[in-house]
Parts: sequence; structure tokens; C-alpha cells
Amino acid sequence: MKLLFIGDVVGSPGREMVKEYLPKLKEKYKPHTIIINGENSAAGRGITNKIYRQLMEWGANAITLGNHAWDNKEIFEFIDEAKYMVRPANFPKGTPGKGLIFIKWNTIEVAVINLQGRTFMPPLDCPFKTAEQLVEEARKRTNIIFVDFHAEATSEKQALGWYLDGKVSAIVGTHTHVQTADERILPNGTAYITDVGMTGPYDGILGMNRDPIIYKFISSLPARFEVPKEGRTQLSGVLLDIDEKCGKAKKIERILINEDHPHFS
Ligand SMILES: [Fe+2]
Ligand SMILES: [Fe+2]
Repeated sequence: MKLLFIGDVVGSPGREMVKEYLPKLKEKYKPHTIIINGENSAAGRGITNKIYRQLMEWGANAITLGNHAWDNKEIFEFIDEAKYMVRPANFPKGTPGKGLIFIKWNTIEVAVINLQGRTFMPPLDCPFKTAEQLVEEARKRTNIIFVDFHAEATSEKQALGWYLDGKVSAIVGTHTHVQTADERILPNGTAYITDVGMTGPYDGILGMNRDPIIYKFISSLPARFEVPKEGRTQLSGVLLDIDEKCGKAKKIERILINEDHPHFS
């Protein structure tokens, strides 16, 4: 089974990239399942119902989130009805939404888990213990388990990757917005990459306008971050090939599309 994952979609430039390249990626890789991280899809902050539906219409089977999940308050109005949206599972008990969902390809179920790191990020429940519980729950229904680990620290991501090796099909990192070149299959069959990278403005800083961020670093004063309205864009993703019987990963391939890395030329 082929699973395409697209990293943090940032604002309308990110959404335009998905609209333009998802058909091409579908044609080239013929993925059976598509998962997109949408935590920055609404102007860089959160997601709206309209954008969630749009991403699903373009071909996503599930939308994962992260620390920006709650930035657009509209989410509280539709998260309970958004069947295919997953927010970090290790938020406190009672938080709206789900941290584990099941999606279907033919008769095969794919478990999708979203977790958030705690290093250099706001405190949450333990992602390791939460992962363990959710994997146990998911395993009752399927061997195919996909984890989006939304975290800042490379060490925390590697640690959870090794911790879950052999227990999940894939654990991919999101949140730093910069793709890492360490994709691999761990010894017990789990596909791993520290960060998939971001889909959106290519010439900004993590997808946002450069100038306010540079100003903030120099002045130590607050600045308003905005998604650039024009300019070059990129798409970041990974393609996974998973043995649907045992749930182990056979292959992980990085996808990076921008002017310096033209994927379709
Ligand atoms: Fe993000
Ligand atoms: Fe994030």
C-alpha cells in the first residue's frame, strides 16, 4: 500500500501547491492513501472548515494538525464533525477532537495518530506513553499505523522513532518546516524521517515573510508574522510503501518540489 504524506501546508501559497501538484503526484506514485498536515493551512495559523473540506476534496483521506491547531477559533465549531481530522493525542483529557482515527482503503484500515513533542514546546501529556496506549488500541483493528509526530527537537523525534520501531508502519516528523535528509527504514520495519518539511512559500522563513522575523531577531521586540502573498513556493512530502499484511514499511521516499529541486521536469 502506498501512502503519500504532505508536510505542513502554509496558507494559500501552500494550498495552491497542493492543488497544482497533488494531481501530478497521484499520477506518478498512485498512492492509495493521502494524509496532509493542515495546522498552518489557514493564513499560517490553524485550519477552517472550508479549507479542511477543500483538502479532502482534492484527495486527502486524513488531515493531521499540531501546535497551531487551535489558532483559528473556527476549529471549535467543526472539529467534532470533521471525521478525518486528527489533532495531537497528548492534549489533556477532554480536549475536543480525536488523536487517533481510522481511514479505509478497500477493506484495509489505516490508523492515523498525531502526537506533539514536549521539548521546547508547551507542556502536554507524555507523547511516548500516549503513543504506546494508542498503538495498542489501533493494533486491535489494523497493522497499518501512521504517526505524524509534531515536534521541535530532533532528539525527541528520533527517540520516539526508535521507541515505536516495529510497532508502527511509519513515524514522520512535522513542525520544523525544514525537510531533513535522514529518511530510512528502522531495523524492525518502521519508516522514519525527522521532518517532512513545509508546503508553501519558498523564500520566506519557515513559510512566513522574512522581514518581521529578521526584525524580531535583531530588536528582540514582538513582530507580526504573515504569509507572503506572492513569490516562489514549494511542496514537501514523503511517499511510503507499506506491506499491507504485516504493516511493515518497505520504502520511504522524500519528495521536495521547488525551483531548486524540480520534481517534474
Ligand atoms: Fe507547521
Ligand atoms: Fe507546528
